[in-house]
Amino acid sequence: MKILVTGGTGYVGSHTTVLLIQEGYEVVILDNLCNSKVEVLDGIEKITGVRPEFYNLDLLNYEDVNKIFDKHVIEGVVHFANLKAVGESVRMPLLYYNNNITGTINLLQIMKKNNVKNIIFSSSATVYGINNTSPLVEAMPLCATNPYGTTKIIIENILQDLYASDDAWSVVSLRYFNPIGAHESAILGENPNGAPSNLLPYIALVATEKLDHLSVFGGDYDTADGTGVRDYVHIMDLARGHIKALEYVLANRGVEAINLGTGNGTSVLEVIAAFEKASGKKVEYKICPRREGDVATSFADVAKAKKILGWEATKDINDMCMDLWKFVTKADTAENYY
Ligand code: WQD
Repeated sequence: MKILVTGGTGYVGSHTTVLLIQEGYEVVILDNLCNSKVEVLDGIEKITGVRPEFYNLDLLNYEDVNKIFDKHVIEGVVHFANLKAVGESVRMPLLYYNNNITGTINLLQIMKKNNVKNIIFSSSATVYGINNTSPLVEAMPLCATNPYGTTKIIIENILQDLYASDDAWSVVSLRYFNPIGAHESAILGENPNGAPSNLLPYIALVATEKLDHLSVFGGDYDTADGTGVRDYVHIMDLARGHIKALEYVLANRGVEAINLGTGNGTSVLEVIAAFEKASGKKVEYKICPRREGDVATSFADVAKAKKILGWEATKDINDMCMDLWKFVTKADTAENYY
């Protein structure tokens, strides 16, 4: 069975592709390489022994994307190809609305035209905004605090409207909390192009002495130690959640939004301590002013994922830090890590 993975050379896309192949699916990857490297295909091949067919394409290129569906009998799509940097989306909203929404509409129009109506959408906990209290539940009202989050809400709404117009569609929007870590082989990991925007890559840069200290954004939040609390989930647990969601989408009709998190909150200082334990390195830090738009606490209610998908996270923050450290210090990663 052939599955199209858009954004398949990215962080979540590549780890999910490994598991799809190991589950026996045939994967076709579409990626414009704006935030990943084509060498990721080598890593996927090294782990699985299979090199997915790859198209270096942008979803804004309607004609060429449509040709993929002429050439392949695609049964389902896992759609990761979205820009995802919150700060960048505030600076460049039109880039985000065009890339994320027009790109997704192109994809959905092509799928409809080719009678492919099974899709997993890569959504985000950012859709819960700043007014909801953790544990965050899927039925809570959504509100975005940045253009990136707004694109995710709009696309989830488009998918709901699509199903309302044609109940042959089967849709799961997966709301990721904070994916971190790397494949246990250390062959794949989080290694986007350009400066990082998330916590763990910065901690790794301090641990490898490429940065002299971490800036901790805020030490006066209403949390146990005053620093931000998030629901960190191991990238391989997250990838497994996609396998479960695909099985569900192929076997059912309908539209669901489902959290993928551990249900546990971990503070920035607790992450630092876990990373120091995993790496044996000291991570120097300075408490700085809060970052605009950050919430104090965000973690998932995970009941729906367990009930509908039969999925729950299995790895803890120590596993995540250990696997990330292995990836960062692996020879061929170390020299080109950020
Ligand atoms: C985590 C915690 C920061 C960097 C974002 C997106 C979300 C998803 C994951 C795409 C917070 C603190 C961070 C640093 C710090 N992305 N921090 N110093 O903001 O929870 O979520 O990335 O889907 O949609 O919103 O992740 O890793 O940026 O921050 O103190 O140098 O670490 O304040 O408490 P975030 P993050």
